Amino acid sequence: MTDETTTPSADEVDWTELQARATDVMRRAYAPYSNFAVGVAGLVDDGRVVVGCNVENAAYGVALCAECGMVSALHASGGGRLVAVVCVDRSGTLLMACGRCRQLLWENGGPGMLVLTERGVLTMAELLPLAFGVDDLTDR
Ligand code: THU
Repeated sequence: MTDETTTPSADEVDWTELQARATDVMRRAYAPYSNFAVGVAGLVDDGRVVVGCNVENAAYGVALCAECGMVSALHASGGGRLVAVVCVDRSGTLLMACGRCRQLLWENGGPGMLVLTERGVLTMAELLPLAFGVDDLTDR
């Protein structure tokens, strides 16, 4: 780990393992309406890995993205901060988080959290520039 916030550098993360965990949980997705299964895995600052898959609903608009499940698992299993995340589609190929889920990831990973993308490893600050966050609730 490179600093007191325990953010690893990109080459300290086992991306292959994270992508494998994301692909594994993707197979548990409940996506009968879109037929678009998603899986996501996140490394927590204490070393554990949390995962999530998308869960759809007959009322289409209330579908839960995979990231929602992962963030719920983060808190349900003890909290902490996400430091590295991989999201995949039904073929196990890297997938970008939707806008709403980038906001979720921002809250639970912060600007330095690393995300594996088709353009390499990027930070949350790169994926959600000028983000709204908790500081905006208090700094005015
Ligand atoms: N989906 C996710 O799980 N995460 C994302 O970041 C993008 C979209 C899901 C929601 C829906 O079940 C399916 O993908 C098609 O949009």
